[in-house]
This record gives sequence, C-alpha cells and structure tokens, in this order.
Amino acid sequence: MAVDLLLGLQWGDEGKGKIVDVLTRNYDIIARFQGGPNAGHTLEFDGIKHVLHTIPSGIFHENAINLVGNGVVIDPVIFRKELENLAKFNLDFHKKLLISRKAHLILPTHRLLDAASEASKGKAKIGSTLKGIGPTYMDKTGRNGIRVGDTELPDWKVRYRALADKHEAMIDFYNVDIQYNLAELENDFFSAIESLKKLRFIDSEEYLYQAQQEGKTILAEGAQGSLLDIDFGTYPYVTSSNTTAAGACTGLGVAPNKIKEVFGIFKAYATRVGSGPFPTELFDDYGATMGRVGNEFGATTGRPRRCGWLDLVALKYAVQVNGVTQLMMMKGDVLSGFDKLMVCTAYNYKGDVITHLPYNIEEQNVTPIYTEMKGWKEDLTKMTKHTELPQALNDYIDFLEKELEVPIKIVSVGPDRKQTIHR
Ligand code: GDP
Ligand code: IMO
Ligand code: MG
Repeated sequence: MAVDLLLGLQWGDEGKGKIVDVLTRNYDIIARFQGGPNAGHTLEFDGIKHVLHTIPSGIFHENAINLVGNGVVIDPVIFRKELENLAKFNLDFHKKLLISRKAHLILPTHRLLDAASEASKGKAKIGSTLKGIGPTYMDKTGRNGIRVGDTELPDWKVRYRALADKHEAMIDFYNVDIQYNLAELENDFFSAIESLKKLRFIDSEEYLYQAQQEGKTILAEGAQGSLLDIDFGTYPYVTSSNTTAAGACTGLGVAPNKIKEVFGIFKAYATRVGSGPFPTELFDDYGATMGRVGNEFGATTGRPRRCGWLDLVALKYAVQVNGVTQLMMMKGDVLSGFDKLMVCTAYNYKGDVITHLPYNIEEQNVTPIYTEMKGWKEDLTKMTKHTELPQALNDYIDFLEKELEVPIKIVSVGPDRKQTIHR
C-alpha cells in the first residue's frame, strides 16, 4: 500500500492543518515527519478553532491513528499543554496517538540556546519561533541528542545533566542577557516527561512497514514549507529540518518508492513570518489588505505575517523539488475585491530574465517580473461547487495550472472544514 504526502510549498502557514483534517477520513494513519512546536496548524469545524503544534492534524477523526515520527522534535512541556487543550474532546490518546522512540527531545536549554543565538545575531537574526528547534537538530546531527526512547533507560538523566551543563556553558559563551531559572524549567520538563510516558512509544518505522503490509492507508503530514527547507530554502533564513518530500522518507522510515501522491498546498498569494528574502513582498494597501482579510498572524507566535503576491518562480521550484502530483490552493476568498492580481512569473536577476530560483534571491539581486490578472468581486466563502466559482478566479487557476503543469484539485474558500471545493 502506498503512502501519500502533504506539504507546504511556500514559507509555511499555507493551510496544511486544514487540508490534513479534510483528507483524514480517507486515511488510517496520519504521520508527522519533521519539525516540532515551531509549527502551528489550524483546524476549524463546528464553529471551533484548534491550533496544533506537534500533534498531527488527524487527531479529531474517530478512527485515525496519529503518529509523531522519528524526524519530529518534541518539547514535552508544550506537548503536555497541547494534550490538556484537547482534554474536553475526550479523545483516547493511548489508542490514537503514537510516538516514535527515535524522535528527539527539545530540552529547556535548547530553548535558551535558541534565544541566546538569536540575541547574539542582532539584526541578522533568523526570526526563529524560539522553540529550540535549531539547537535540538544540531544535537541530533552532532550525535549528542536525547531521544524519546532514552527516557525508558535507567541512565538517561545522567546524559541529560551532561548535555544541559554543556548547554549552559554555551549560553555563557554567547555573552547575551538571557534571564532564566533552570531548576524551575527542569521541574516542568521532568514532570512533562512523566506525562509523555503515559502515551505509547513505538518503533515507528516497523509500525509503518507493517501497516503498509496490511493495506492501511497513510498520509504523511509536513510542517513549515519548502522555502524553509534546510537545504532548498532561503538559507540561512530557514528551519533546521528537511521540509520537502525527501524529509518524509527520513522522518518516517518510509521508502521513496512507496510514496504515491504528493499534495502541495499553497496560498493564492504569499506570506512569510520571520526574517529572510521575500521578492514579491508588498508594503502597500494590497499587502495590508491580505494581512487584514487573511488574518495573517502566526499561529504559534502571533507575529504579523509579511504578505505579497504569488511567486510562481518559487512555487514552480517547490513543485519540482517535491514532485508534486496535486495542488491545493488556499485562501482564494481573501483576494475577493482586489481590482487586479499580480503573479510573479520571472525574475530580473542581475540584469538577466530568469524563470528558475537562483542561489541568491535577496532584494539587491532579484526584481520580480509580474503578469497582471483580473480580480473578482464575488464572496467565495459560501460557495460549495467549482461550477459556482467566478470566471476571473477560474482564469487565475487555469493560468497557474498551465504554468505549474500540475492540476489544482482543491480550492479552499474559508478556514472551515466545509469551505473546501473539490475540482
Ligand atoms: P498551516 O501551518 O499550514 O497549517 O497553516 P496555519 O494554520 O498556520 O495558517 C493558515 C490560516 O489560514 C489558519 O488561520 C487557517 O484557519 C486559515 N485558513 C486555511 N484555509 C483558509 C482559506 O481557504 N481561507 C481563509 N480565509 N482562511 C483559511
Ligand atoms: P507551520 O508548520 C511559518 C519560520 C520562523 C523563522 C524560521 C526558523 O505552521 O507552517 P525555527 O523556529 O524553525 O527556528 O524558525 O522558520 N517558521 C515558520 N513559519 N510556519 C511555520 O510552521 C514555521 N516554523 C518555523 O518564523 O523564520
Ligand atoms: Mg502554521
């Protein structure tokens, strides 16, 4: 049985949580493969809004098993809060939620190191969510990390102490003003570890292999977006994991030839939160309107998201790197009432016109070249069938499909589960 894969094609917050929730009824297992609580995945149904950070977005469906894969980094304190927020839904976490023993733990000192590193960078800061993501993945690749499965071993607290002591020395090295009470943070951490241990830890690659043998359907859920990928994103303004398709193989132990559909999610415009280049960023009323109507504030940090026109050069690159087979366009409703829509179809790169994403996309190297399209006035939020969509929106979709050479199968017209049009 094949594994399908869903991921974001821009700088994150494309609407992955909503679409995973919509698609979950077709799957037995939803498996998160990378990132950690830097993610904020929003789901809306029955008039309630939920933001998930580490827990996969299939958690509300009765029969779906939700798996936190080995590629994910888990902060037990944040994880416990997420579980507490869901308490009123009476979900059977012991049955529905599985954790890979190979997932790495975010320690309190990882969070402090993140803050110290950012403070030391001044204006050049990454704009990290300060959840300790970078330092945790550094310890993973540096072979010093502590994994979920380690907490079942008798000596793990000795290893913890040695690592935390080293982190404290590193925090001192940064020589920035970070106030903290480690004893308090550690109390919280160790009690949250005990809560985590009430869940089922599994050898997830074996679990997923057996599930495939039994014909179970699996959806791999990505976090962040392709332009935040550690290799293919706008480095160094990226996150510390592979957010692109290959990350699902390493983050779950699924073989590449088992991946079937690759669902690529994008907004009808573009947003970015945190620092880093953004060629089509708008500083005018169009951008302000996107931010206001689209309610563009980070689901994890509450920071305002930067907004801009859709960048097809970057989107095409993401489609290519991921091997996207189906596209899903989100937040078309936000653009209702725009008199025109600009779509970036090429870059002027140091005097040359190019249509691929170059090594440097900073402002001084790249000027976007736009194609102007007609806007639409109609409110899309009550529409349920693709035949109702306005002509100008259909023209926009046709144009994108032609440029990207991949069909747009879902058009999302609002945050609710029901505001989803299949084409
Ligand atoms: P994720 O990180 O990719 O899961 O996306 P986020 O949840 O961070 O951000 C997407 C935001 O847009 C959330 O507030 C969603 O509720 C909202 N959203 C998703 N789809 C749509 C849509 O089609 N229209 C509108 N107006 N909002 C949407
Ligand atoms: P979801 O899954 C949007 C951004 C941060 C920062 C950079 C590095 O909700 O789409 P990190 O905390 O990883 O060290 O931050 O990446 N970032 C996100 N932006 N959506 C996310 O997740 C993000 N996760 C990280 O703003 O610029
Ligand atoms: Mg988000």
